[in-house]
Amino acid sequence: MNKIPEHIAIIMDGNGRWAKALGKIRTQGHYQGVKNVRNIAIYANELGVKCLTLYAFSTENWKRPLEEVNYLMALPKFFFDSYIKELMAKNIKVMMIGEMDSLPKEAKAIFARAIDMTKDNTGMILNFALNYGSHQEILRAAKNFALDVLNDKSVLDIDEDAFSQYLYTKDLPVIDLLIRTGGEVRLSNFLLYQLAYSELVFIDTLWPDFDNEAFDECLKIYYQRDRRFGGLNEKENY
Ligand code: IPE
Ligand code: IPE
Ligand code: MG
Repeated sequence: MNKIPEHIAIIMDGNGRWAKALGKIRTQGHYQGVKNVRNIAIYANELGVKCLTLYAFSTENWKRPLEEVNYLMALPKFFFDSYIKELMAKNIKVMMIGEMDSLPKEAKAIFARAIDMTKDNTGMILNFALNYGSHQEILRAAKNFALDVLNDKSVLDIDEDAFSQYLYTKDLPVIDLLIRTGGEVRLSNFLLYQLAYSELVFIDTLWPDFDNEAFDECLKIYYQRDRRFGGLNEKENY
């Protein structure tokens, strides 16, 4: 039996192209995309994934037209209004990573409520990366660490485990698998530190079309990988 990856992260890309191909406007692609978040979250939970991290909005996505940004910022309300009951019933715990302060007040409040409502749930963690960028995360970590040293709350000579406590992901398991939908082969400022030894799978399927079968396909690719972490696999061992 293959061991299901504990923590899967997904760059949900391709909503705009999905819409364009059907003659729809980009925001309709995001609407379809958010509905797919529900489907994939439910499926990942059934499979026994411990944590699913979804890239929902990057620190670079503010460059998009205001209308699109506003639409994206209104989606958390749609998502939680529609699905929070189901998430509760499935024992799913909502978390988020990213720079929360500069989100619109309403999106912030909606997330805070969902996080609070589900905080005692013990099933899968559904973790949204919202206004997330690795460069921002690492700079923030470095600043907070420097402040702790200045205030005698830390010493300069910390190890990697202690440094990782300054990252947004401090309470989450190591990422086993990263999936990017939509055909681009880049990380777009996503979890650059955390993906050091994750398996990376890039597929052409656009996010709104990414169904359980496509997810299974990514898992199949993952199971075929030989994770050596810089060492040797058993057969090569002497
Ligand atoms: C991903 O889809 C969703 C977000 C970045 C918020 P895109 O909107 O990037 O879709 P494409 O890449 O233009 O098709
Ligand atoms: C990455 O997709 C961000 C999210 C999926 C939220 P983008 O569409 O923003 O990335 P680029 O522009 O192709 O690098
Ligand atoms: Mg894109």
